[in-house]
Amino acid sequence: MFIGAREWLSGIQSGQDVRAPEAVPGYARPRGRIMPGSTLRSLIESLPMTQESSISTPFTSVDTPALLLDAGALKANIQRMAAFFTHRHCKLRPHFKSHKCTAIAKLQMKAGAVGITCAKLGEAEVVADAGIRNILIANQIVGPLKIRRLIELCRRADPMVAVDSADNVKMLSEHAVAAGVRIGVLVEVDVGMGRCGVAPGQPALELARLVASSAGLRFEGLQGYEGHCVDLRDETERTAKTSESLTALVETRQLIEHSGLRVNIVSGGGTGTYTINGDCEGVDEVQAGSYAAMDWWYGDIRPEFKQAMSILATVISRPKPGLMVIDVGRKGVGAEWGAPRVKNLLGSEVVSYSSEEHMKIAVPEDSTIKIGDRIEIIPSHGCTTSNLYSEFIVHEDGVVTDKWPIEGRGKLQ
Ligand SMILES: Cc1ncc(COP(=O)(O)O)c(C=O)c1O
Repeated sequence: MFIGAREWLSGIQSGQDVRAPEAVPGYARPRGRIMPGSTLRSLIESLPMTQESSISTPFTSVDTPALLLDAGALKANIQRMAAFFTHRHCKLRPHFKSHKCTAIAKLQMKAGAVGITCAKLGEAEVVADAGIRNILIANQIVGPLKIRRLIELCRRADPMVAVDSADNVKMLSEHAVAAGVRIGVLVEVDVGMGRCGVAPGQPALELARLVASSAGLRFEGLQGYEGHCVDLRDETERTAKTSESLTALVETRQLIEHSGLRVNIVSGGGTGTYTINGDCEGVDEVQAGSYAAMDWWYGDIRPEFKQAMSILATVISRPKPGLMVIDVGRKGVGAEWGAPRVKNLLGSEVVSYSSEEHMKIAVPEDSTIKIGDRIEIIPSHGCTTSNLYSEFIVHEDGVVTDKWPIEGRGKLQ
């Protein structure tokens, strides 16, 4: 029979030979008396030691792979984006899915964000736990299980959700009425991405009317995310396509307003398009998220933001001159947009990242890099990278200053 951690530890102290629990969260090697030669002793020896606190040590001393966050770069990014919106009608509602870390969300709010955007209900719950009330879940919340959780969330925060179907509106309304709450709703318009959303114009107006006339719901406005434009490499093309999308969105707003309904919020946009959306009359909020921690994919088209996120890895093999292998692979880096890049190591290039736990990097033939050395890599996609780690190792000038939990990690539901 397995026993609890406390019982197990008191058994150790009294010298009994007890069977250890399979997993002991937060276990640190106990100082109590251990029976010599017991099965328990060998179990204890095999358990990992708790890592010594690495605060105030160089970041190269932390175990790897680790997700690093450069505090100076993060601060500069948050301030730069906040400054862009300070004197504009349009405001920033940063997307939480990019970093999933409430410490960063709080900094963004402090810098002037009007609220936080989330992709998932689970993320919104985490954000609400951190005391942030103004939350947009920029997706459809469908089915009784989720709607019940949304209702619960309404009791401690002010969430808004996106809808694109009459069925979803009906179900949200029924649950809200039964629970005695009102849910804020944005009608999602497909502005060309071809994902969720009703067509601009009349279909959006009809859904807006339905929301506005549904008990328990509060029609707040429109959500239109131009995901097909945000990362277009060519700026002229990005601007032209985004403007086209925004025209459809703003015309839909006007149609709804002419029908007599009030539109409080028109929301969309990302890191690649924030300047276009931010200056577009009729758009009230931008949902950019990647700008805070960044990745190289956005770094190439938005050089005004610094690379704050990187992954620290250890060189575990030098199979031959000109090649090294590090201890992180597919499972530790979001690489949807291409191979990670090596930071601060001239002449180095990732040549293979298809293994789960290994990455092959070409280095100059005469490179002196050796087994055990630490290097940093930059992911092509920051949003999926943050989802793989439980904490950011925050550093300034190479020294660890803090560790921030990534509470939204794995919140897929
Ligand atoms: C609904 C929505 N809004 C905004 C964004 C923008 O995020 P980013 O800053 O990464 O461009 C995304 C990204 O996927 C999104 O799905």
